[in-house]
Formats: sequence, structure tokens, C-alpha cells
Amino acid sequence: MAVGIFDSGLGGLTVLDAAQKRLPDVDFVYLADSANAPYGVRTADDIYDKTTASVQRLFDAGCDLVILACNTASAAALRKMQEAWIPEGKRVLGVFVPLIEALTERQWGDNSPPREVGVQHVALFATPATVASRAFQRELAFRAIGVDVEAQACGGVVDAIEDGDMILAEALVRSHVDALKRKMPKPQAAILGCTHYPLMQETFQDALGADVRVFSQAMLVGESLADYLERHPDKMGRGQGAFLTSGDPKTVSTRATQFLRRQITFEAA
Ligand code: DGL
Repeated sequence: MAVGIFDSGLGGLTVLDAAQKRLPDVDFVYLADSANAPYGVRTADDIYDKTTASVQRLFDAGCDLVILACNTASAAALRKMQEAWIPEGKRVLGVFVPLIEALTERQWGDNSPPREVGVQHVALFATPATVASRAFQRELAFRAIGVDVEAQACGGVVDAIEDGDMILAEALVRSHVDALKRKMPKPQAAILGCTHYPLMQETFQDALGADVRVFSQAMLVGESLADYLERHPDKMGRGQGAFLTSGDPKTVSTRATQFLRRQITFEAA
């Protein structure tokens, strides 16, 4: 029984880690398309092609349910995949829904008119492709009124994390937070809209200030996956747990082990 988790690289490990803690009896096949990361600077068509190829690999590994633990793929490719590509009996879910549910304090299926929510000034940190898609603002607008979202495209952060250069990643995060604050001096909440960013959560929080509520997806997605599997136990799949990468397994294993602080061994996808 295995559920697939996909990301362009290492960021989805933050989601995997939370999902494993929440669902210790479920096996996961994690696929990192490291050879093609970062996705955040690619066109929507390119992201779609690369995401479908990776998700197909997870279907081939026996997964019936795949989580796109990647906001960039969720924003740029998921809707098109759901409309025309996903085969019968398979399911692909993104990472936006649990975040929007948490921010708007309502369930996804709640189709009542948009209403006021607890926060008015929200900073969104995401990759250039996610920011360009405006997917987050669109989903939010269906459910909430009076929320001002200021988006900051955080160029370079994913590359630095993938390269293991955490000093550069930290410097870039601080400069992106400064840039955001020039546009929105007092955000009440901040969304880490890229699954790589929880690896830098302390830096985001420190740069934003203690009074800014930082929403990150890992825990929210773990909870929502547990709820989904309870309602759809048939989507557990047949595969066995594994870590797959399109990049160099040795390098990716070393970085993953560093991030999760436990031995992670990737094999070639
Ligand atoms: N971790 C990803 C996300 O949530 C992908 C970042 C990238 O490859 O640029 O957007």
C-alpha cells in the first residue's frame, strides 16, 4: 500500500515527513524530479509535461493516489491534468486546498458566498511560476472578501536549497521578506507557498517578526491526507515505499538526510 508524493526536488520532503508522522502505517513513494528542478522558472506547458511524466512514474510504481507536494505544479498543471489526463481510478491532489481551508476557516466543499475572514493583509511567498499563475488569489477570492494579498516571487531560494547552500538561501529569504515589506509593511499572516520554504521557516519568521502568523503546508496537508484516506481507503495503492529521483541518487540522498535528520536513500527513478 503506497501513496505517491511528488515534488520537483527536496521541498516535498516537508510534506512527506508530516504525512509519515500522521499516517505511520502508510507507505509512501516519493519522487523528486531533481534533474529538472527548479520548476518555478519554467513555463506552464513545460511544468505540465514534466509533472505528468513524473506522476505517470508514480502510477507505474503502484500508486493510485498522488499528492503534488509542489505548489508550482499544483498552480500551473493540476487543473489541466484533472480535466483531461488523469486515468480512471487514479487521483491526483494538490497542496493549495488545505492551505486555503485553513486561511478561510472553511471546508473546500462549502459553496456559500465569500465572507470576511480573520486576516486582511496576507503576504504570499512563492516561486515565480506560482505567483504568475495567480492561482492562490483566485481560489481565495471564491471564499473570502476583503483580503489583500501581496505576492513575492522568491527567485533563487529553491536553487540554493537544492544546492545545499543554506547561507545563500537565508540571505535570499531575508531580501525577499524586505522586498515584500516595502509593498506591505504590516502583513498579519504569511503563506509559505512553496514546499521548499518550510526548510527556511525560522528565517521567514525571524525576518517577518513574531507577530506575523506563518502558514506552512506540511502539517495541513498531512491532516487533510489522513482525512481523505479515511473516506477513500481504496486509494491506498499497491506499491512499496521508496525514494526515487531523476537526479543523482547519491547527492540527493545526502541532502535529504541532512534536511530530515534521518537516513534517506534515493534510487534512480
Ligand atoms: N517545492 C516546489 C513548490 O512548492 C517547487 C519549487 C520549484 O521547483 O521551483 O513550488
